[in-house]
Amino acid sequence: MPVITCIDDLKRLHKRRTPKMFYDYCESGSWTEQTFRENTSDFNDIRLRQRVAVNMEGRTLETEMIGQKVSMPVALAPVGLTGMQRADGEIKAARAAEKFGVPFTLSTMSICSIEDVAEHTTKPFWFQLYTMKDQDYLRRLIGRAKDAKCSALVITLDLQILGQRHKDLKNGLSAPPKLTPAVIADLMTKWNWGIEMLQTKRRQFGNIVGHVTGVEDTSRLGEWTAQQFDPALDWSKIEEIKTMWDGPVILKGILDPEDAVMARKVGCDAIVVSNHGGRQQDGALSSIRALDPILQAVGGDLEVHLDSGIRSGQDVLKAVAMGATGTMIGRAFVHGLGAQGEAGVTRALEVIRNELDISMAFTGKRDIKDVGRDSILVPAGFSGDWV
Ligand SMILES: Cc1cc2nc3c(=O)[nH]c(=O)nc-3n(C[C@H](O)[C@H](O)[C@H](O)COP(=O)(O)O)c2cc1C
Repeated sequence: MPVITCIDDLKRLHKRRTPKMFYDYCESGSWTEQTFRENTSDFNDIRLRQRVAVNMEGRTLETEMIGQKVSMPVALAPVGLTGMQRADGEIKAARAAEKFGVPFTLSTMSICSIEDVAEHTTKPFWFQLYTMKDQDYLRRLIGRAKDAKCSALVITLDLQILGQRHKDLKNGLSAPPKLTPAVIADLMTKWNWGIEMLQTKRRQFGNIVGHVTGVEDTSRLGEWTAQQFDPALDWSKIEEIKTMWDGPVILKGILDPEDAVMARKVGCDAIVVSNHGGRQQDGALSSIRALDPILQAVGGDLEVHLDSGIRSGQDVLKAVAMGATGTMIGRAFVHGLGAQGEAGVTRALEVIRNELDISMAFTGKRDIKDVGRDSILVPAGFSGDWV
């Protein structure tokens, strides 16, 4: 077994073991990928303080996200097609998260369905909603998440239309993959992936296929999803969805203080400062740079989470020290899943927990709830002096 010491180790194995089409789908941003790159590199501009001669015994990372207990301030972000990175991927990731004591978020565009994940887990998970034009389907989808006892609805606001990712077009991304000569040649080197995939029945979009009239196969599905995402989504529709759900709501994809103020106005339990991992608006600010102005606009009255660019526990520590109550990780857990299945997701979480715990201790803190601005050094003008 290879020795895994950091998320990059899992990323290398993920690349080796997963068909190119799906690895590329994960490891890409839109257009020039500027925002994708800066999401991670901007974390490096923040430094951690080193304090000494402070008692480091009895440390704890336990805290709460939207009032729910978490073993550390990290949730698994919604990631579409997770079940193509590894057979039954959503179930494996959800099981790893529940054993670890952190929330798992199931994407609307998952391979395993809401019911399937609920059946194979014992604790409630969060459900991420893409808003669709088909109101009947939308209502039924929300009802299904309620029936499955999902403990929060994460409404994603930054994907009404799809940002272009060049690699997905070039690779002909589809689920399941179409067996072109290039795909067959690639699969010949990824036997384990193929064998596991042949052994599962979960190879299509589980929340959609069979639940929408006329969508019984994947060839119609691509057409349907392209037409179905609702480009007319606005704050009044978000309010309607909130009423339909009638439970904890997290609004994901906020990058601008004005939108954060709107989110507070419609009422939600938390927002996620996010640019979708650099997959939508290329040229947007990295999430970590966008965080501070948002906290200044709504911090104190609204719980603020952050995702996009987190690859280590040090990154989590920096986000929390800046003022985020919690974080989400996307690629970091997908690398674990693609590398080693459920055990790989657990390993990714262990790596992040260990880095977070040790780095927190070095800043002189023993309780994650005490981590704050005095734990970090932020360069002047970090959030930019934009006009
Ligand atoms: C492969 C992939 C698929 C994604 N699919 C979804 C999705 O279905 N719904 C959603 O709200 N966000 C989706 N996201 C965005 C993530 O929820 C999250 O915002 C992002 O991954 C955070 O950035 P990170 O990967 O750098 O941690 C996806 C991200 C990736 C990498």
